[in-house]
Amino acid sequence: MRVVVVAVVAAVAGLVGLASGCGGGSPGSGSGSVTYYRDVLPVVTARCGGCHEPGGLAPFSLVSYDEAHPRAGLLAASTRAGEMPPWLPAEGCGDFEGSRRLSAAEIAIFEAWADGGAPAGAPTDAPPSAPTASDLGPPGATLDPGASYQANRPRATIIAAS
Ligand code: HEC
Repeated sequence: MRVVVVAVVAAVAGLVGLASGCGGGSPGSGSGSVTYYRDVLPVVTARCGGCHEPGGLAPFSLVSYDEAHPRAGLLAASTRAGEMPPWLPAEGCGDFEGSRRLSAAEIAIFEAWADGGAPAGAPTDAPPSAPTASDLGPPGATLDPGASYQANRPRATIIAAS
């Protein structure tokens, strides 16, 4: 007996229709030279941090200056080339909820930072750090539906069994 199970990865497919333009908000870079803490870290946190953070699936973290600044040129090159963040849908082929495509302003921040020598800036300029899973602590409540049930959207479909 052979059973083929295909995972239906439903995490991405939310089409947003005519809603606002893609690319999301663009953190203001303000005046003066582009610095890590004020300009780069907010973009990294929003767009790279889920993978490029300690314990993430990417091979290095970008949420610390020490790890990010030696790679400033690489960050600029990979974002300019559209290689990072990974996002396969072709541009102009619909707006997707959760799109990882960077705005031109975000790409320009990486470029300007690398061109300016990748300065750290003042740590006090850093945005407040978002809570991580380990910051959340134990759940405040645990709910039990009382009986087993089938979720509306199965995450796996059996397409062949013999
Ligand atoms: C979905 C996860 C994910 C996100 C989001 C992501 N990365 Fe990556 N990144 C990876 C992985 C995985 C690798 C390692 C790829 C490999 O080794 O082939 C990588 C590699 C890189 C590299 C090294 C490329 C090279 O040629 O060696 C750079 C630079 C990079 N990422 C920058 C970024 C930046 C900047 C962002 C955010 C704007 C970002 N990444 C967002 C997963 C991610």
